[in-house]
Formats: sequence, C-alpha cells, structure tokens
Amino acid sequence: MIRIVEPRFSEEEKQAVLQILESGQLTRGKWTALFQEEFARYLGVDYVFPVCSGTVALFVALKAIGVEGQRVVVPAMSFMATIDAVYLAGGIPVVVDVDEYYTMDPDQLERAVRKYRPKVVVPVHLYGQTADMDAILWLSDRYGFYVLEDSAQAHGAEWKGRRAGALGHVAAFSFYASKNVPMGEGGAVVTSDPKLAQEVKKWIDFGDHPAFNVRITEFQAAIGYFQLRKLQENNLRRREIALHYMQALNGGFLHPKERRGAFHVYHLYTLRHPQRETILQTLKAKSIDARVYYSYLLHEIRRAESLPTPRAEKFKREVFSIPVHPYLTEEEIDLIVDTLLWAVELAPQH
Ligand SMILES: Cc1ncc(COP(=O)(O)O)c(C=O)c1O
Repeated sequence: MIRIVEPRFSEEEKQAVLQILESGQLTRGKWTALFQEEFARYLGVDYVFPVCSGTVALFVALKAIGVEGQRVVVPAMSFMATIDAVYLAGGIPVVVDVDEYYTMDPDQLERAVRKYRPKVVVPVHLYGQTADMDAILWLSDRYGFYVLEDSAQAHGAEWKGRRAGALGHVAAFSFYASKNVPMGEGGAVVTSDPKLAQEVKKWIDFGDHPAFNVRITEFQAAIGYFQLRKLQENNLRRREIALHYMQALNGGFLHPKERRGAFHVYHLYTLRHPQRETILQTLKAKSIDARVYYSYLLHEIRRAESLPTPRAEKFKREVFSIPVHPYLTEEEIDLIVDTLLWAVELAPQH
C-alpha cells in the first residue's frame, strides 16, 4: 500500500520520548518551551501558543479577537474545522469562492466585505500554498478587518519570502498526524501582536474568564521540535516530487499551479480530472491511496450564507490528491505515474 501520508520518526525522537518518561516532567516542561522558541524563530513571529489541535487554535484565535455576533469570511474549500471554529466562537460565517489556486478569491472577498462588513477574514492556505496575501492584506488595511491565517496545511509555505503564519494578524496551525509537522494531535496560535497575545493567553492558561485546558504534553512538543527541524528538507523533497508529477503526468490532468511570489509546500498534491471516479478506482486497485479533499463545500456541510461559488462547485467534482510525502521511493513515484497514465487511457472519453 502506498499511503497518502506517512509520518516517520527518528532515533532522536524515540530517545526524547523515553527521556520524558524517565524525567517525570510530562507537561509544561523544557520541550514545550523549546518547541515554542524554535517555531517562533522559524516563522519570524513573537508569540507561539501550543494547543491541542488546529480546530482549537482557530477557536482561540477567534475568541481572542472577539467575534460574537460578528461576520467572519471563510473560503468555500477547506476542512470543516475552518467553519466550525467560527460557529463555536459565536461568529456568523460568510462563505466566498476560491480562485484558480484553490484559495480565497480576493475579488469576491471585496464584494463580501462591502456587503457584510466582517470583523475577521480567514484565508486558508489550502494544500500547502498561501492565499493571495497582498490582495487580502490590502483589503484589510482599507476596510479594517482582522486576518486570521488558517495555516493548518502550510508549515513552511512562503509568500514573497515571508512564512505563512507571519503574514496576517494571527494564525492557526495544526500538527495532526498527517500534517507537514506531525505531533499526532496538536496545534498552535501564533501572532506578533502583543494585545492579541494577551487575549490568547487568557483562553489557554486559566485567565479571568472560564476557559478549557487545551495544553499539549511534553511528548507532543518533543516530536514537534524534531519534526520542525526536518521540515525544510522534507518540503524541498515534496517540491521535487511535485515537479516530477507536473512533467510526467499528461493526459488531461489539471495540475496545481504555483502562484507568482508563493513557495508551495505541497502538503497535498491535488490534481483535477473530469474522469475522477474511474481514476480513483484504478489507483485503489493498485493499492495507491488517493483521496478527495474535499467532497463538500463549507456552506453545504454547515449551513451558512455564501456568495456564488461556481469555481468551488466545479473543483469539488474534479479534485483528488495523490501521495506526495517526502518518504516516497522512486519506484513508488513511478508506479503512481504509470498507474495514473494507464487510468486515463482506460477512462471513457466524452
Ligand atoms: C485547513 C484546516 N484547518 C483546520 C484543521 C483542523 O486541525 P485539527 O485536525 O488539528 O483540529 C485542519 C486539519 O485537520 C485543516 O486542514
């Protein structure tokens, strides 16, 4: 089976986990501090708050801004946590279409902003590529909304030399098992705004209002720390595999496009093809794990107001993601390419 994701752990990580067990310091220890420091340095932000999941990171960021009864704009294509966090934080989501890069369409965003005057806009850096941050930040300056980057899929992605998570006012990361930095479960809220940082703290560290305990353990922090140190190398390998797919896969596949100014980290390699279902069946028969991210749009899965979403509706029917993780062997990559080329030959033409 060629799996769509395959986290790997080295001897250092195993040793660290054993050390933590022996030390008896299972939470709030040196590894959490080390991870915080390293991630802040890596991103170029002032504050990193590790939490137990990406969903919680989004929720806490929204609570820190304060969105009760306020509009929050999200794109149509994302994992459902993006919109769930808005509802959980008491906000009212408004959904907009995506552009050809699968991220929030800035033109539609402007229409939504004029109509709804949102307090927060949540661009999702989907599949590992940043949204059009110049356009979104320009609109933020002009109309005065907060930008919360959903960076769950974009560890190490860049926009004009700056890292995803350091571009807006605040950002949320996930360290779920399949992410480019996996901890098993985990997340982080990051910001360089001291006022927002103070509000975030109240939600995660027993402040002046009721809050959950959402901390991570030392085990998660240690794994995150070592995975972070491998991130750049792993992302470069993902890009190398992506380039190979772009060159080798003809036959009507629509490949992901890299936006000018963006450094895509290919959390997922997402193709489009009108014959998707036949292709998926053929891949499955060859034990190649390929999946649809996502088979729903956010305003379909959770009822919400939306602007027209023709692009997302089309993409939803055609997208599928193939393995692009950094531990794929050359033989596995060749098998994936050959199977896909064979699958489109088999697919009925129309
Ligand atoms: C775009 C996006 N946002 C939010 C999340 C939520 O993260 P988590 O699963 O850690 O709660 C995920 C991942 O699962 C995601 O892909």
